Amino acid sequence: MEAIALTRGVPPEEALPAARIGEAFAAALQKNGAVILQYGNIGGYPPLRQLLADQYAVTPAQILIGNGSLHLQDLFAATVVKPGDTVLTEQPTYDRSIKTFRRRGAKVYGVPMEADGLNLELLETELKRQVPAFLYTVPDFQNPAGLSTSYQKRKALLDLAEKYNFWIIEDVPYRNLRYRGEPIPLLREINPAHVITMSSFSKLISPALRVGYMVGPADLIARVTRLAEETILSPVLPTQSVVAEFIQRGWLDQNIASLKALYQPRLDAMVAAIRKYLPDVTFTAPEGGFFVSIILPETANYANLLERAQAVKLSLTDGTTFFADPLPAQDDSVKDRFVRLPFCAITPAQIDEGVRRLAELVK
Ligand SMILES: Cc1ncc(COP(=O)(O)O)c(C=O)c1O
Repeated sequence: MEAIALTRGVPPEEALPAARIGEAFAAALQKNGAVILQYGNIGGYPPLRQLLADQYAVTPAQILIGNGSLHLQDLFAATVVKPGDTVLTEQPTYDRSIKTFRRRGAKVYGVPMEADGLNLELLETELKRQVPAFLYTVPDFQNPAGLSTSYQKRKALLDLAEKYNFWIIEDVPYRNLRYRGEPIPLLREINPAHVITMSSFSKLISPALRVGYMVGPADLIARVTRLAEETILSPVLPTQSVVAEFIQRGWLDQNIASLKALYQPRLDAMVAAIRKYLPDVTFTAPEGGFFVSIILPETANYANLLERAQAVKLSLTDGTTFFADPLPAQDDSVKDRFVRLPFCAITPAQIDEGVRRLAELVK
């Protein structure tokens, strides 16, 4: 029996543009080798910083390029979290963000997600109790649930940030991987006052480049940049220069187009397999990204699911890792029935077979 991994939220090998990365690096070295191979200004490779500043209609002083978006989340949390602070996330959310914010001393509470974004009533009840250091949201095709936040909820969230005065991190690494439907404006595009935007090229070119960035007010960026300088000393200019070359040559857009062509049939295969084999689960079909998730019915056989899946050569991720502490008086037992189903790294045939095996296990 073929082993199937419904665990990996990573680009598959065939999505990694090795030849073009080589060519881009060679060209960047030839053009600018003395800069790229030297210690640099910690804010990032100047041409890439400028390209990002142009993209977001801000100044380069409002951009910090770091070693992936998780690195920047860590630096940001270390800069703004004070002892006793809370951080709010979506519930469920990216597991490594929960760990990162906790490691920096925050108490992390998850605000339940609905199909169109956060439950804003529960959020406001919590805001009346205490205002967080920041709220972390992944508004486009979030990890792990694949959900997106509607325009109305983005606006309402920004109004709450204004009213209660807290930062919002919008982390958008999947935003450009939209396979159908129309983009919803970034929070920053609606009102940037309380917003730090983070993203990365991990899912658009290659995760190993470790190039991510944050956009925010210049004074806050300067504070985070000081910590970056004290900890990593210099930006990783070789890979940042590769990303700059990709953008300048039009290769980033071409790469995104070919990723969409590769991933859309995989998303469609995942949605079709869930409808075919697991008609009783709760789920929302996303329009992009890497993940679909399901909530098994209470009557499903979900005890020891991971171990039983291993016995039929199916790897699954423990769904509970995506849940922060529940808000006071909130029941979070749904986490035991939450299954994340990444679809980009395996073929449509493997997706169909993986979901079929899962359905047999939970019968
Ligand atoms: C929502 C989200 N943010 C950040 C990251 C980390 O990305 P990076 O490779 O840029 O650190 C991931 C990776 O899976 C993610 O899903």
